[in-house]
Amino acid sequence: MKILAFAASLRRGSLNRKLIALAAEVARTAGAEVDLAEFREFELPIYDGDLDASAGLPPGAQELKRRLDQAAAVLLAAPEYNYSVAGPLKNAIDWVSRARPMPWRGKSIYLLSASPSPMGGIRGLWQTRIPLEGCGALVFPDMFALPHANEAFDGAGRLRDAAVAARLEREVVGFVRLAEAVAPACSAHAPAAPVKQAEIAKALESETELQPPTR
Ligand SMILES: Cc1cc2nc3c(=O)[nH]c(=O)nc-3n(C[C@H](O)[C@H](O)[C@H](O)COP(=O)(O)O)c2cc1C
Repeated sequence: MKILAFAASLRRGSLNRKLIALAAEVARTAGAEVDLAEFREFELPIYDGDLDASAGLPPGAQELKRRLDQAAAVLLAAPEYNYSVAGPLKNAIDWVSRARPMPWRGKSIYLLSASPSPMGGIRGLWQTRIPLEGCGALVFPDMFALPHANEAFDGAGRLRDAAVAARLEREVVGFVRLAEAVAPACSAHAPAAPVKQAEIAKALESETELQPPTR
């Protein structure tokens, strides 16, 4: 199974990038083929309905759509900004949500966050679930928030605390197994179960009817 993995931070020293690298490694060890992307590959203007209407998806959104289309699942490390979704990530979710068929639909998604704060970014992850689930993604119930992340990694990028590393491994492996299990019903890349797949896609379509028509 192919997984797209990225940290939604443009910052050179991003803590979320360190965390996603570890999660990607666990997923590879669990047998997944992981496409570890840089968020900068999906750089985007602020969503503008006029730009959307006149030119459609900008190159960064087309690239994110292309990479999502190739994957059955997503590992996403998302920084918390002001108790909520970081603006650059919400912008990317919104731009890509204008493509049809909806690229987020049916993707299994595991959310992670790293923050220097004692909360580890968990409040932002609860907010991040909402637009992703609104777009038809299957967001894994468990989420991984890494508190005091500025002190959590050693010089080689490993987690200093073995118990935290073990929890990351257990959760990411669990996510990979569940994503493999649901992929036949939800992913275009898995062996098809045509009737059920069509029924699921139809059921998940309703939310996107709230949006204005696409080009
Ligand atoms: C605008 C802004 C708002 C932030 N708000 C929060 C917050 O509400 N909670 C939190 O834990 N960290 C917050 N932070 C700190 C980030 O968690 C921290 O900068 C983190 O390292 C960002 O992720 P990155 O290292 O992957 O870029 C905020 C940072 C910025 C720039």
